[in-house]
Amino acid sequence: MIWVLGCRGMLGSQLCELFQKNKLSYTGTGSEVDVTDFSELENFADKLESSSGSKIDFIVNCSAYTAVDKAEDEKESAQKINSAGPFNLARIAEKKGAAIIHISTDYVFDGNAIQPILETEKKSPASVYGKTKASGEDNIISSTQRYYILRTAWLYGFYGKNFVYTMTKAMNSRESVKVVCDQKGTPTNCSTLAQVIFEICSKKTVPYGIYNVTDAGQTTWFDFCREIYSLGTKYGRISNNCAINSCTTDEYPVKAKRPAYSVLDTSKIQSALNIKLPDWKLSLEDFIKDERFSVK
Ligand SMILES: NC(=O)c1ccc[n+]([C@@H]2O[C@H](COP(=O)([O-])OP(=O)(O)OC[C@H]3O[C@@H](n4cnc5c(N)ncnc54)[C@H](OP(=O)(O)O)[C@@H]3O)[C@@H](O)[C@H]2O)c1
Repeated sequence: MIWVLGCRGMLGSQLCELFQKNKLSYTGTGSEVDVTDFSELENFADKLESSSGSKIDFIVNCSAYTAVDKAEDEKESAQKINSAGPFNLARIAEKKGAAIIHISTDYVFDGNAIQPILETEKKSPASVYGKTKASGEDNIISSTQRYYILRTAWLYGFYGKNFVYTMTKAMNSRESVKVVCDQKGTPTNCSTLAQVIFEICSKKTVPYGIYNVTDAGQTTWFDFCREIYSLGTKYGRISNNCAINSCTTDEYPVKAKRPAYSVLDTSKIQSALNIKLPDWKLSLEDFIKDERFSVK
């Protein structure tokens, strides 16, 4: 049996949908089972095992404090959810003999790399969000050996606020938008990450450890936006003439520092699962043409 935390979030919703479709036995919880409260988690896990009559094999942590800029002012909340939360879950996994699958981020790096970043690279977060996520990783590693830490980046999905929806909405209503052109990374469809989690849970033989999981290739936010416009127009999601202008990070000030370069090397997960991760443009096309695509 699989326990998914953060089941109503962008990734969690899509993951549960995939588990359901493939008839994998799982239970999902949201913030009503608080990751920052160890005894609440422990009680829930005990009840889950006794009521279902089956053991928890995987705890999948899709819960997080994800408001990157707000975290700069709400350090304590971010730290509790992103650092104490995974610590609690890893200790429960250890007690139950389960494995924890935890989602982490490219923000654990400062963005100064010049080539795709390996899992072994030393962490050097530059924002509060990145620091809390890095500390969450460390807490898991020190609590159990049965962990999968999946670092992803530039995530978008059907059931949450994300760059593709934000820009689609903006480009449908404005004459022009301005997008940063000096930050590089890899847009990642939640479907890709959910599929990887599904494979890990189904195979049960994937070696524990840290894995980078993103779609393939790299781009800038500016070129990502241009691709959204082009595909959005092709599939009838955008019906407005909108100019896309580029700007630099300095011209678009935000509270939290973003990594300038956050392309992750994904060879390790591809060889562990014997898969080829899809190119980000193909993944984006799948997303935009899907009937679940729905800009709020
Ligand atoms: N979005 C990105 O671009 C991105 C990039 C890299 C990595 N990631 C990582 O990917 C993972 C999934 O991100 P996402 O965008 O899907 O997140 P999301 O949509 O913000 O969902 C996070 C979920 O966490 C739950 N949650 C918050 N506080 C909680 C608490 N105290 N106890 C239990 N649950 C709590 C919320 O549950 P309720 O809905 O019930 O309140 C929410 O649904 C996160 O670990 C994030 O750090 C995201």
